[in-house]
Amino acid sequence: MQNTPQPAHTPSTESASEPEAKSASVTSVIQLNHTAVYAADRRRSAEFLADVLGLEVGAPFGPFLPVDLGNGVTLDYCEKRDEPIQSQHYAFLVPEERFDGMIDRLEALGVTYYADPHHTEPGRVNGWFGGRGAYFEDPSGHNMEIMTRPYVRP
Ligand SMILES: [Fe+2]
Repeated sequence: MQNTPQPAHTPSTESASEPEAKSASVTSVIQLNHTAVYAADRRRSAEFLADVLGLEVGAPFGPFLPVDLGNGVTLDYCEKRDEPIQSQHYAFLVPEERFDGMIDRLEALGVTYYADPHHTEPGRVNGWFGGRGAYFEDPSGHNMEIMTRPYVRP
């Protein structure tokens, strides 16, 4: 009897391990690339964020005014003037050594920062997860967060 080569993976072992392998591989290759951030005045909002975080506002791209972040994500500021802007939450992981400068810029701009997302602790920063963090409102009412350590999720 001829010895027929067998596939490395039999159907039964593939079906048992495939879902986990596919899930891990897809998660590692899909990245958030950009998102639209609505603003009453795109220039004002983009420059506000860039000023606070120490970033640059890019060249206009159609209706969008981009602010590029360090992980390849672009915030595309675009205007919405005829209807109310739904407040969104944007959290930025920032270097510990730049955190104080950001707080200083908020103070210089007269923007109140808070230790908590509900804005009940003005003028304070939190010490969550061994880092520091603060919340503040952008010119269109979005709830911005700066943090030096990412959330530790279960
Ligand atoms: Fe958050």
